[in-house]
Amino acid sequence: MNILVIGSGGREHTIVWKLNKSNKVDQIYCAPGNAGTGFHGENIEISDTDADGLLQFAKSKDIDLTIVGPEAPLMEGVVDQFEEAGLAIFGPTKAGAQLEGSKVFAKNFMAENNIPTADFAVCDNQEQVKKGVEDKKFPYVLKVDGLAAGKGVFIIKNSADLEHAIKTIYKKNKFGEAANQVLIEDFQTGEELSVFAVTDGRDYVVLHPAQDHKQVYDGDKGPNTGGMGAYAPAPLGTPGIIKKTEEQVIKPTLKGMRDRGTPYKGVLYCGLMIDENGNPSVLEFNARFGDPEAQVIVPTIESGFVDLLESVAQGKLKKNNFKLIDKYATCVVMASGGYPVDYEKEKIITGLDKLENSESLIFLAGVRKENAKFLTNGGRVLSVVCFGDDLKESISKTYQNIEKINFDKAHYRTDIGAKGLK
Ligand code: GLY
Repeated sequence: MNILVIGSGGREHTIVWKLNKSNKVDQIYCAPGNAGTGFHGENIEISDTDADGLLQFAKSKDIDLTIVGPEAPLMEGVVDQFEEAGLAIFGPTKAGAQLEGSKVFAKNFMAENNIPTADFAVCDNQEQVKKGVEDKKFPYVLKVDGLAAGKGVFIIKNSADLEHAIKTIYKKNKFGEAANQVLIEDFQTGEELSVFAVTDGRDYVVLHPAQDHKQVYDGDKGPNTGGMGAYAPAPLGTPGIIKKTEEQVIKPTLKGMRDRGTPYKGVLYCGLMIDENGNPSVLEFNARFGDPEAQVIVPTIESGFVDLLESVAQGKLKKNNFKLIDKYATCVVMASGGYPVDYEKEKIITGLDKLENSESLIFLAGVRKENAKFLTNGGRVLSVVCFGDDLKESISKTYQNIEKINFDKAHYRTDIGAKGLK
C-alpha cells in the first residue's frame, strides 16, 4: 500500500512511525511532514491545506489511503475533495468536522441530541455578551465559535477576566471571523478525560482513554498550549465511565450526524469533564487524533491500525484484528523556552542519538534537519514516550530518558501523569 499522511506535528510523526511497522505498507509520504516523518517516509512540500495539490499528488503516486492529521485540512474540505475523486481518505468531511470547527454548531447539536454538556447561550456581538453575563455568577466560560489554536476559551472568575476577554475578542479582534459568534457557558467542575472513537459513522472502536496537560507549567499553571504531555490509559477512564461515554456521547453523536445526512467518519475525540459521580459531560469535540494524545494512544494499539484506518476510509469498519496493548504510555513534550508566547528557533538539539535503540520512542514536531544536525523549528519541539507495566513506571522511564535530550532554553513539565497516580 502507498499511504499519504497530511500534517507536520508530533502526531503525524507518531502515525507515520506506526504505519511503517506494518508489512502491508510499501511507501509512506507525508505532506508537508517534519524531520521525524522523514525517518520513515518521504516528505513532500505541499501545504496541508492545499487540497488541489494534495489530490494531484495522491493521484500521481497511486496513493491507496490518505490520513488527515490536523483539523485545518478537514475544515478546508480535503476529505470531500478526495472522496469526490474516488480516493480513500481517513477523516471526516467538512460537514462532520464542524463538530470541531464550530463550537456553536457542536453545542446546538448536543442540545438537539440530548448529549450531556454545560448550559450555554450564543451571542452575535459584544452587547449580547455583556447582557448575557449580567446576572451570571462567576466562574463561567466565554468561547469563540471558530478555530483558535486553543486560545479562544476564557475562564471568567471576576470582572477583570471579563474585561480582558472582551478586549481580546472585540477590541483587539484577535480571532477575526472565528469570533463572529461567542458562547457563554456554565463552568464545569471535575476531572478532564479524552476519549477517542475510531468510527465509520455507525460502528466504532474506543482507544485507550488519555489525559492531556494543556497549561505550560507544572500544576496546570500558565497559558494554554497545544498540550504539554499525555498519558494513557488514564485510570479515570474506568470501564463504567467509558460505557457511559459510549451510551450518552458517542452513539448519540454518530446517530445525530447520520440523521443530518452527514455521517461522521474518522476519529471522534470527545473532550470530557467527569464529575464527582462519574458522569461525563462534553467540553468539546475534536475531529482528529489529539496532539500529544496521539503519541500515547497510537503506540498503545497493538495490532490492526492500518486495517482499522483503511476500513474506515472504505466505509466499513473492520475490527477483527484490532487489539490494544495492556501497558501504560506517558508522553512528555519538550518545548522551546517561552512557548506558547515568544520563543526562539534554530537551537541545536543534542542527545537524540542517546535514545536510539533504547526503550524510548521520540516523536519530532518543531524540528528541522540540516546536514547531520537537528535544529528547533517550532514551539513544541519533540516528545518522548515510554511504556510501563503501570503508570508510575511509564512516567519515571519517560523522565529518565527526556533528561538525555537538550537544547538551549528547553522546557518541559515535570508533573505529566501525576494526576493519574492520585
Ligand atoms: N491536545 C489537545 C488537542 O489536540 O486538541
